[in-house]
Amino acid sequence: MAGAILWMLASVHAISMVLAQDGNQFVHYDFRKADLYVDGMASTKDGRLKLTNSSKRATGHAFHRTPISFVNSSFSFSTEFVFAIVPEERTSYGQGMAFVVFPSIVDLRYGAATSYLGLFNRGNDNKTENHILAVELDTNASSEALEESDNHVGIDVNSIVSVESKDASYFDDTVGMNRSLVLASKQRIRIWIEYDGENRLLNVTLAPLETPKPRLPLLSRSIDLSKIFKEQMFFGFAGSTGTIRSHQYILGWSLAIGGKAQSLDISQVMDLPRPPRNHLPLILVVASVVAFLIIAGGIVYLYQRNRYAEVFEQWELQYSPQRFSFRTLYKATRGFKENRVLGAGGFGKVYRGELLDGTQIAVKRVSHGAEQGMQEYVAEIATMGRLAHRNLVQLRGYCRRKGELLLVYEYMVNGSLADRLFDGDNLSWSQRVHIVKGVSSCLHYLHEGWGKVVLHRDIKASNILLDENLNGKLGDFGLAIFYDRGATFEATRVVGTIGHMAPEVTSMGVANEATDVYAFGVLMLEVVCGRRPVEPERSPGQKILVEWVASCGRRGALLDSVDIKLAGNFEVDEAMLLLKLGMICSQIDPQRRPTMKDITEYLEQKKRIPHISFDTAEFGIPIVPLISDETVTAQGSALSFASFLYDTITVLFRGR
Ligand SMILES: *[C@@H]1O[C@H](CO)[C@@H](O)[C@H](O)[C@H]1NC(C)=O
Ligand SMILES: *[C@@H]1O[C@H](CO)[C@@H](O)[C@H](O)[C@H]1NC(C)=O
Ligand SMILES: *[C@@H]1O[C@H](CO)[C@@H](O)[C@H](O)[C@H]1NC(C)=O
Ligand SMILES: *[C@@H]1O[C@H](CO)[C@@H](O)[C@H](O)[C@H]1NC(C)=O
Ligand SMILES: *[C@@H]1O[C@H](CO)[C@@H](O)[C@H](O)[C@H]1NC(C)=O
Ligand SMILES: *[C@@H]1O[C@H](CO)[C@@H](O)[C@H](O)[C@H]1NC(C)=O
Repeated sequence: MAGAILWMLASVHAISMVLAQDGNQFVHYDFRKADLYVDGMASTKDGRLKLTNSSKRATGHAFHRTPISFVNSSFSFSTEFVFAIVPEERTSYGQGMAFVVFPSIVDLRYGAATSYLGLFNRGNDNKTENHILAVELDTNASSEALEESDNHVGIDVNSIVSVESKDASYFDDTVGMNRSLVLASKQRIRIWIEYDGENRLLNVTLAPLETPKPRLPLLSRSIDLSKIFKEQMFFGFAGSTGTIRSHQYILGWSLAIGGKAQSLDISQVMDLPRPPRNHLPLILVVASVVAFLIIAGGIVYLYQRNRYAEVFEQWELQYSPQRFSFRTLYKATRGFKENRVLGAGGFGKVYRGELLDGTQIAVKRVSHGAEQGMQEYVAEIATMGRLAHRNLVQLRGYCRRKGELLLVYEYMVNGSLADRLFDGDNLSWSQRVHIVKGVSSCLHYLHEGWGKVVLHRDIKASNILLDENLNGKLGDFGLAIFYDRGATFEATRVVGTIGHMAPEVTSMGVANEATDVYAFGVLMLEVVCGRRPVEPERSPGQKILVEWVASCGRRGALLDSVDIKLAGNFEVDEAMLLLKLGMICSQIDPQRRPTMKDITEYLEQKKRIPHISFDTAEFGIPIVPLISDETVTAQGSALSFASFLYDTITVLFRGR
């Protein structure tokens, strides 16, 4: 029974102990949870206790709402808190702050701002009725307080004039030396304020947050607090601003009455908020990033604009349907990649490309020095775009840039006739005949089937392109000319390819239907004989194709000239027809050559070809000393795709 009562007494005692502890000691890290009274500028809204804001000459207070009773006590207390002072300006610290113990009868709201730290005012300063103990953390030397230091810690009793003060510093135990400390350093600083009631000694010690409590205090002052404190005292903080402001924070606070305050766990002490102060660096960074982006964008834009730059003039408007943008061609050829080159020559290169809709194209890039003549050239091209014959390589359009013309053609899968005849896979007899007939009908269309006479002027095997069905298509109109029917064309220069040029072309500069017919005649011989018109490496009698076939004809052995690669697989009648027709077209006398209309009819066997006597007829090619044939053919044979201009010799004919 007695045991039970004892236990009950013990329990009651234990409970009262807890209550006493609750009232007389606390630890705060988040001040929103602390039961604080705040006024003025003070706030706890983000968990930190902030005494001041940007207002000038204002005060802020915060204190524990419940007073502490010192009845029957020795007035011993111990407190530890973490503070930070963040001045708004670089050169000035602003005013200071203070830890304050005051009786309820004093209303701190009447404490003046600026150097009075929100504690006293002119009226009540240095009055014993104040009953105020404060430890000031002062960052401004003020005349009212008779101070000389901008960075000091002082013990104040009833007056802003400290009973004792020292410049802020701490004793570094590791080296046994005092180190100075800047209060308004924007760093978190820990401070210990301890009063030993027995020995009547008040110690004030401070150190940077991470440093353990120094062995020696900064201030150690003998004070009899029983003469100052009343039975009930409030514990808290006061801060003030002047014209110069600082933000004052309390970031953790521990207090105990009659014993040692619990040491703060620095890991729980909040950091300072990110500086709200100067946005200039950020603005500068943002501005420079924006400026950089604008400049980079501008460079990219200029680069792109330059990369895709085109030349476009008023007179071209009518051709806009045939106009391609350079960007389109650039993308289609993957930036004119080397592995897309189909052929190359003096004029530039031909690239394989693919449009967005999957259409295969061949893009010929012609570089040209002068702009003059461009207008006529483009006019021709555009007209060419309107020519429509299934044996014509379709020109799909063009694009103009500075110093450069781009021609867009349909892509011919099987390359050129020259490739197939002389280098590549062999063509069967029927394929050869089919190609010849196709080209013939195309030339007939150009000469007679259209409003104007179109002379191609460069008919040869390498300008005949083959589509997927091995239809022969006439390409490269780079040398083509247009003129009204009945008019005669006055050539200013002689153009063509040796071996396909009729003698009168070089001797008189003539260009008419008959000169195209001559070239077509040589083409027919090329197809049947499977060799080039001029092959210098052959024996003397065989060098020139026309002369060699004529010699076969004179021997009565015309079929000897048929391509041996055919191995005899050919139609004798057709071969005779093509050879004879080729020879008829290749006569030196233009009057004796048939028209393309006749030729087409002979080929379709609608008409019988006229008789030709190899003994009386004259054949031959012009002797042109200017440019040797070999170089051109050698260059030509090295290239795969039907060349456009590359094996075209331009012979200047100035004297006319
Ligand atoms: C500072 O705090 C006071 C009191 O809360 C308020 O009236 C004032 O507007 C604040 N000043 C600034 C600059 O935030
Ligand atoms: C204080 O002590 C006195 C005697 O020493 C006693 O009479 C009084 O009740 C005590 N007061 C409190 C609040 O403990
Ligand atoms: C102290 O306060 C005065 C008046 O507000 C000011 O001129 C001075 O710059 C301040 N000093 C510091 C160190 O803040
Ligand atoms: C404060 O008051 C006491 C007398 O009450 C006086 O001796 C002392 O000089 C005063 N201190 C100041 C700084 O005015
Ligand atoms: C105050 O500091 C002195 C040394 O300066 C020391 O002897 C004393 O114990 C300290 N008092 C407390 C309460 O820490
Ligand atoms: C350090 O400062 C304390 C308090 O101001 C002082 O008592 C002590 O003598 C100083 N120690 C050194 C080594 O300067």
